[in-house]
Amino acid sequence: MTRHFLDLSDAGGEAVATMLKAALARKGARAGLTKGAPDADAPLAGHTLACIFEKNSTRTRVSFDMAIRQLGGSSIVMDAGSMQLGRGETIADTARVLSRYVDAIMIRTDDHAKLEELAAHASVPVINGLSDRSHPCQIMADLLTVIERGLTLAGSEWAWLGDGNNVLNSIIEAAGLFKFRVNIGCPEGYEPEQRYVVAARDAGATISIMRDPELAVAGADVVVTDTWVSMGQHHAQEKLTAMMPFQVNARLMAYAKPSAQFLHCLPAHRDEEATADVLDGPQSRIWDEAENRLHAQKAVLLWCLGRL
Ligand code: CP
Ligand code: NVA
Repeated sequence: MTRHFLDLSDAGGEAVATMLKAALARKGARAGLTKGAPDADAPLAGHTLACIFEKNSTRTRVSFDMAIRQLGGSSIVMDAGSMQLGRGETIADTARVLSRYVDAIMIRTDDHAKLEELAAHASVPVINGLSDRSHPCQIMADLLTVIERGLTLAGSEWAWLGDGNNVLNSIIEAAGLFKFRVNIGCPEGYEPEQRYVVAARDAGATISIMRDPELAVAGADVVVTDTWVSMGQHHAQEKLTAMMPFQVNARLMAYAKPSAQFLHCLPAHRDEEATADVLDGPQSRIWDEAENRLHAQKAVLLWCLGRL
């Protein structure tokens, strides 16, 4: 069966743990290599990844391109608007055609339903490079970032501050897979998708929605935030005002454990969702987190292509 990676649950906890282990091992084994040099075993030599972007991207674009190169393969990176997709060719037909040329497809889309349709008609693996609903590749990197500093996921305490968006939905999914707690500090009307909350709780995670940001952060091992206005959303002043009490600043970080790690998927809006002193401070892991997109996605590609 074709292994798609539309959400973390497509792989499940055991496979995600295997991917994280493989990512750490490959990261360690690259010491001394230039960025474009392949891993010693070049396991995906002769393989090609098509990357399709309906929305802007820096990290996802470059890290997937470099990931497949380091695995010995190559990529074709396309903006959807310059493909026939942009002139009305269907997703299903695009899936059928690309499946005849390439070994895997990564897509960033404004509509999760398109991702599902692409996967339904592709005979090669389809990877979610962010949708309006979830961002599983980001959370693979986030998990890698906190475990490489020694955090045990099971029983750990995460605090999310701000908008209940696609990145949070995937964190909640991870909480279900690894049984950790997520305290969500968000204003009313900006909660995460209920289906992710219900599934994670059913799987044994503790997911709490809180209106008090200090309570949400209290004792946290990991503090996470993201932009208040995701791509495709309106830049409404009303929303920014509602989010302000949930800004991650030094005062709020002080409620977390002294060892707490701060994450942000980037791009950041300094002094909106997080202050510059937190983003650039000693607890911030954001640059490692960005780097880890590359290492985590190499493992995702290997899993999708049956090498893990
Ligand atoms: N975090 C993330 O997905 O970044 P890009 O939008 O730059 O790809
Ligand atoms: N929530 C953000 C993440 C960007 C990487 C967005 O969807 O725009």
